[in-house]
Amino acid sequence: DVDVKIQMAEKTSDAEKMYTYKGVLYPRLMCPEENLKAVEIMEAREDDVMLVAYPKCGFNWMVGVLRKIMVEAGEQKSESKTPPLIEFFGPDNLKAVNEAPSPRFLGTHLHPDNIPASFYEKKTKMLVIFRNPKDTLVSYYHFYNNNPVLPSGQSFDSYFSQFMSGDVGWGSYFDHAVGWDKKMDDPNVMIVTYEDLKQNLTEGVRQISTFFGFNLTEDQIQQISGQSTFNAMKQSSADTHGHLGNIFFRKGVVGDWKNNFTPEQSREMDEVFNKRLAGTRLGAKLNY
Ligand code: A3P
Repeated sequence: DVDVKIQMAEKTSDAEKMYTYKGVLYPRLMCPEENLKAVEIMEAREDDVMLVAYPKCGFNWMVGVLRKIMVEAGEQKSESKTPPLIEFFGPDNLKAVNEAPSPRFLGTHLHPDNIPASFYEKKTKMLVIFRNPKDTLVSYYHFYNNNPVLPSGQSFDSYFSQFMSGDVGWGSYFDHAVGWDKKMDDPNVMIVTYEDLKQNLTEGVRQISTFFGFNLTEDQIQQISGQSTFNAMKQSSADTHGHLGNIFFRKGVVGDWKNNFTPEQSREMDEVFNKRLAGTRLGAKLNY
């Protein structure tokens, strides 16, 4: 499915690759309007395992971790290779998802206010991964230039302006962060950061499995964390993500923004960050 879309992307002009739905940009081939409409009415379950991230915050990292946790906990036979994003499924695949056995593993890049209401009503547990906005921007910039479904060829400076004004796929990073900050007290929401996970992945795996109620032994936790390092995941990326796998596992470090931002761009982002997130708990967690 994804391969077919990539072939279509090669015949699509950059101008046609993105479109706006309810004020937010999306990549047309992966999330056409019919997908976004179908998602709005999808039914969540209390025992769904839901992963949420603004693009490039470490979504695929946590996909690997959660799939391994679910296999080790005996909830899935093997790690599926289908991207779990609900907005990629489309009406037909969503029907199959509606009939899939529990617990289902699902994911989304949607803004918290655009996640189907059913997930909040059912009190579905959601793991949210965030990353400092400077590294997120750099990662997204490279992704735009390497993923055929997204427009390419922008200079870093013009991409920087687009990101800052929220004119990128799934909208403004800052809108997402402000939205999640309001949910920090929700017991069904667990927010982790890329930076904390880089520092102590084993502890992250332990907390994430506890949050979803999966009991794992210390050996299982160590094993999952060993298999989820950047190098380990990059090595198996052709298997997990197909021939474009390498674009999801680029550098995997904290602080790459220092190789890309001008001092002026860094100041500009600090200003916006402070305006939108200073004094918030998520802002403090993302302190960079
Ligand atoms: P970089 O482009 O900075 O390397 P997403 O999965 O949300 O698209 O995020 C992609 C980013 O997460 C990429 O960042 C990628 O390299 C990084 N990443 C993926 N797997 C990782 C891992 N196991 N450890 C650390 N970073 C990882």
